[in-house]
Amino acid sequence: MEDLGTVAWPPEPIRTERLVLREPEARDRAAFIELHASPEVHTYLGGPRPRDELEREMPEVPGRWPGNFVVDLDGAMIGQILLRRARGHRRPAAAGKADLGYLFLPRAWGSGYAAEACAAALRWLADALPGEPVVLTTQTANVASMRLAAKLGFTEVERFEAWDAEQWLGVRSPATPSG
Ligand SMILES: CC(C)(COP(=O)(O)OP(=O)(O)OC[C@H]1O[C@@H](n2cnc3c(N)ncnc32)[C@H](O)[C@@H]1OP(=O)(O)O)[C@@H](O)C(=O)NCCC(=O)NCCS
Repeated sequence: MEDLGTVAWPPEPIRTERLVLREPEARDRAAFIELHASPEVHTYLGGPRPRDELEREMPEVPGRWPGNFVVDLDGAMIGQILLRRARGHRRPAAAGKADLGYLFLPRAWGSGYAAEACAAALRWLADALPGEPVVLTTQTANVASMRLAAKLGFTEVERFEAWDAEQWLGVRSPATPSG
């Protein structure tokens, strides 16, 4: 995966009804470590990383690259949205396309925050790179993620086996101007 490259970055913070999407800052470091060390968050993502390794290796300002959004609720990070370029994707249908990923802290699950934040990130992408489809890969066993993908308007391209599990590749076509 590569960053989006040509987009103007960082954008002005994006405000939704309850959330702010913004670039990562130094004060988010602890939440990034929590997110990546959480076994719950990584149930369908190949397992968490050891906390001591994260403490050692996480940069002072984590993940500063175009397309990497912190999702902020009342001044604290609750999740991360990743929009990247899927250069080396194992499925030809996804190769080179903009790719959406999302990770939220368990305490923030189940309140519609992920749907609200992802919809805003997708609107930002549609402005920044008009006409681009977006792809998304998730395990079919990841029910919350499958529901979220459907809610955001992704439709199935194919299912495939990888990383010892069934994966779902979805695509969201760019909005067409309505007449
Ligand atoms: C995927 C994830 C972001 C979803 O977060 P969330 O807080 O549940 O998302 P939302 O509250 O916006 O809910 C999205 C939909 O999924 C549903 N949902 C959430 N958890 C569910 C569960 N365990 N079972 C069934 N449906 C579930 C919600 O009800 C909602 O659907 P609805 O509006 O029709 O009711 C969160 O579970 C997460 O961070 N998981 C770990 C990281 C991960 O697996 N990412 C996916 C790989 S890119």
